[in-house]
Amino acid sequence: MSSIDKQQYDVVVIGGGPGGYKCSITAAKLGLKVACIDKNAIFGGTCLRVGCIPSKALLHISHEYTKAKNDLLKFGINITGINFDLQQMLNYTNARVEELGNGIDYLFNLFKVTKIHGIGKIHSCKPGNLEVLVNDNILKTKNIVIATGSEASALPGIDIDEQKILSSTGALSLTEIPKKMVVIGAGAIGLEMSSLWSRLGTDVTVVEFSNRIAASVDSELSNALLISLQKQGIKFLLNTKVEEIGQNSVQISAGNIEADKILVAIGRTPNYEINDKIIKNNRGFIEVNSKYETNIKGIFAIGDVIGGIMLAHKAEEEGIAVAEVISGQSPHVDYEIIPSVIYTYPAVSSVGKTEEELKDANRKYKVGKCQFAANGRAKITDIAEGFVKVLVCSVTDTILGVHIIGAYADTLINEAAVAMAYGAAAEDIYRICHSHPDINEAFRDACIDAFFKK
Ligand code: NAI
Repeated sequence: MSSIDKQQYDVVVIGGGPGGYKCSITAAKLGLKVACIDKNAIFGGTCLRVGCIPSKALLHISHEYTKAKNDLLKFGINITGINFDLQQMLNYTNARVEELGNGIDYLFNLFKVTKIHGIGKIHSCKPGNLEVLVNDNILKTKNIVIATGSEASALPGIDIDEQKILSSTGALSLTEIPKKMVVIGAGAIGLEMSSLWSRLGTDVTVVEFSNRIAASVDSELSNALLISLQKQGIKFLLNTKVEEIGQNSVQISAGNIEADKILVAIGRTPNYEINDKIIKNNRGFIEVNSKYETNIKGIFAIGDVIGGIMLAHKAEEEGIAVAEVISGQSPHVDYEIIPSVIYTYPAVSSVGKTEEELKDANRKYKVGKCQFAANGRAKITDIAEGFVKVLVCSVTDTILGVHIIGAYADTLINEAAVAMAYGAAAEDIYRICHSHPDINEAFRDACIDAFFKK
């Protein structure tokens, strides 16, 4: 913890997750005097400690394991006696989390952000005379940014004890492989955790309320992902409501499903217990105006706590934007082009409109596609499952949405996001030379397909 300055801060940021720490560093770069408070000693928030980073590390490791076990013989690589050490997997992951946490400390030191480990509460809401209480100290500040994130939603009457009934936090720290796991909810968390534990030998059943998995993605990709995950051995019960959760089972209308671990992954709820004068909407999210300012002048809120897409990189964008607002600039976050990724295998990624959204809006559009089976790099590296789907305006040829399912969907989507940010037409991508043989050619080929469609 850095020493607290008794003089007035320009900004006190409550919450050191991706939104909060990016906001702090940006504000400091812009010449403001900044303190950032977090109740955890490792800054980086849910994303770094118990979310994006450990989950993607363990997904990567478990994928490497299944690849070594099942997929190398065809390349002429014969490895026998493959097994794994779960504790070492967790040790590896924890070490990377610690290193990345140290990276945030390094940046705070570099840009002279005061790092405070403690629980921050808003002590005075008087505009022009704001105060934050932390560890019995009062910090005087011109502006406050609330970036306190979210926590896993619980089912009514169900206690998430992180022993038998888990949130994603518990599911990322199991020290024994469960025999049977029931996952409630087929959103990003449910699907990623199902993939992780199923790869390591757990018998996983996913119970999902709606008639499809990954409800927010284009339905063609959601269907393709369902088929692929079923082939990998994960069982899905769609249109299914959980009626009760027992110690070793989950009750649904068709009967009981046995489980030694039950993961509840039904969404996330905002964390905001820092002041009751801040107005929230009827879903519990803090209300802000277009400049992220709450009902109290000088108090801003960003990230999961204000709702919208609950993604780390959306919070980061808002963190940067609010730092710019406070320093007198007029930033703009384009919510239409925030990419999203589900890190299963194959991964699924999207940016922009889905086909359903374009139909609902009566937009005239063309669909361009490229199967990875037609892509040289995908073929030679044996990752040819999946496709790129590009949706373009029939009138202007502008790219309206890009949806990818495939091994490299996660990184590939960012080329699409850049293209859309510059208002690219399918023809623009057609006219840009792409290196060969590379995965990104599949995006270009999907654009070429769309461009030549009548
Ligand atoms: P989610 O909102 O994405 O999905 C929850 C799913 O649970 C929905 O499909 C819903 O229909 C289902 N559900 C709700 N109540 C249910 C019930 N009683 N019985 C059965 N099914 C039920 O929530 P999730 O997966 O927990 O993720 C939380 C947030 O974190 C999301 O905003 C997600 O985007 C974000 N996240 C993103 C990741 C990524 O980008 N890779 C990874 C992890 C989380």
